[in-house]
Amino acid sequence: MGTFYVTTPIYYVNDAPHIGHAYTTVTADALARWHRLVGDEVFFLTGTDEHGLNVQRRAEANGLSPQEQADRTSERFKDAWSLLNIAYDDFIRTTEPRHHRAVQALLQQVHDSGDIEMSTYEGLYCVSCEAYYGEDELEDGNCPVHKRPAELFKEDNYFFALSRYQQRLLDWYEAHPHAITPESKRNEALGLIRQGLQDLSITRTSLRWGVPVPWDRAHVFYVWYDALVNYLTAIGYGEDDERFNRFWPAVHHLIGKDILRFHCVYWPAMLLAAGLEPPQRIHVHGYLLVGGEKMSKTRLNAIGPADLVADVGVDGFRYHFLRDTPFGPDGDFSYEGLVARYNADLANNLGNLLSRVSTLVGSKCAGIGPAPRPHSPLEAVATEVYEASAQAWDRVAPSEALEATWRLIRETNAHLEAEEPWKAEPGPEVDAVLGDALEALRIVAVLATPAMPAACAEVWRRIGLSGSPSERRLPDAARWGGYPGGLDVQKGKPLFPRIHVD
Ligand code: ME8
Ligand code: MG
Repeated sequence: MGTFYVTTPIYYVNDAPHIGHAYTTVTADALARWHRLVGDEVFFLTGTDEHGLNVQRRAEANGLSPQEQADRTSERFKDAWSLLNIAYDDFIRTTEPRHHRAVQALLQQVHDSGDIEMSTYEGLYCVSCEAYYGEDELEDGNCPVHKRPAELFKEDNYFFALSRYQQRLLDWYEAHPHAITPESKRNEALGLIRQGLQDLSITRTSLRWGVPVPWDRAHVFYVWYDALVNYLTAIGYGEDDERFNRFWPAVHHLIGKDILRFHCVYWPAMLLAAGLEPPQRIHVHGYLLVGGEKMSKTRLNAIGPADLVADVGVDGFRYHFLRDTPFGPDGDFSYEGLVARYNADLANNLGNLLSRVSTLVGSKCAGIGPAPRPHSPLEAVATEVYEASAQAWDRVAPSEALEATWRLIRETNAHLEAEEPWKAEPGPEVDAVLGDALEALRIVAVLATPAMPAACAEVWRRIGLSGSPSERRLPDAARWGGYPGGLDVQKGKPLFPRIHVD
């Protein structure tokens, strides 16, 4: 047992939430739920990134003030997360006073250390990235991420002396070989650092929509330097040292590969400059592609979570992205894939097992669930599956964790097919087979609860258990023999009705 601090990026409020944002957030939520099962003290942070030129322009286009734009879109993110059963511990908004205080305190620290200086900057800027690009990084003058023209900006800005941090960053990563996962993304970050680091322009005078620079009120901080600090604000940086030290630097940042440079290069350097440790873990995932392209507002191929939840339910949605899109590489989203996975794993495997077992307990055991055998052939499977899942969650590989859990479901279905209790007369043999199947369902309900909290609570209820699987503690809750027997088992409507597509 320990602490587990997990974060998502804070999302820009110029865009409505889509399944790309949901992918990172559902993964963080499932990890947080797993660590709660293990008994860790969990702090799960998400939120919205509300400053910057991009938001200011979007607000103007919508005829709103930037604050109104931020308020509205921030609500949409909260609504999406409530729809998806995301149990965050804190939702941070960068327009909050607590965040302004933290940004000012952190950057004042860097300024005091002598790593921030004034200079003139002229360069090509992508407003969607909120970042300057070198000519050589652009593709025909277009931003490589957004495929839109970069604009020429010239400003007197404060610069962070990133160039001084090249060797310190390389040394730090050398001493912390597991700080970035997967390995390919670690290599990408090291490559960026080895290429040589330019000083970074970290303030703006051309807009007002930002956190004021404490030592020069004509400037506001550039949105990225404000945004990254959210990870410190929420754990009490500068205001609650005890709490701050409990969670920092033992953080797990989950990010998409689009923001690798900010998290793996700029952020650790900035922390070192302020006398703080870089984040202990950064887990980088790829893009969800729709029709082979990165989904985004600018490309008009965004899909909202509610569109899919209407068809496969909240847990079907969560399960799909956790199981079907391994964390790391890019993944293609398709509606056909969503339905196929839902029908195979949820309607058929899990749904069938539950309905079969509850029906048989009704007809062969008068509706009272029998106890499992102390030494069932399924016991060894359950033990292996628990261990494989625990290791996979620790590696931030939800897809492997669920694959392992589904092995227990498949083996239990196979066991029933081999024993054919539906053909046998009621009696101790049938009781033994059904008791084992109920016990397997109980263990599955615990292990799958991070992915499908509501469905697993329903499985729990139907097999007659009280409370909810999320209140159990691992590893005890996965140990064979926890189902007491003698409980009312209920038949009910299919948990995951099959979806027919024509
Ligand atoms: O970058 N596939 O915010 P953002 C997978 N505010 N993940 C995707 C995705 C896709 N197609 N599209 C978005 C920002 N994401 C900054 C972050 S953090 C201090 C500041 C997810 O609204 C993924 O996690 O553009 C990606 O990194 C993030 O949303 C970008 O969200
Ligand atoms: Mg983006």
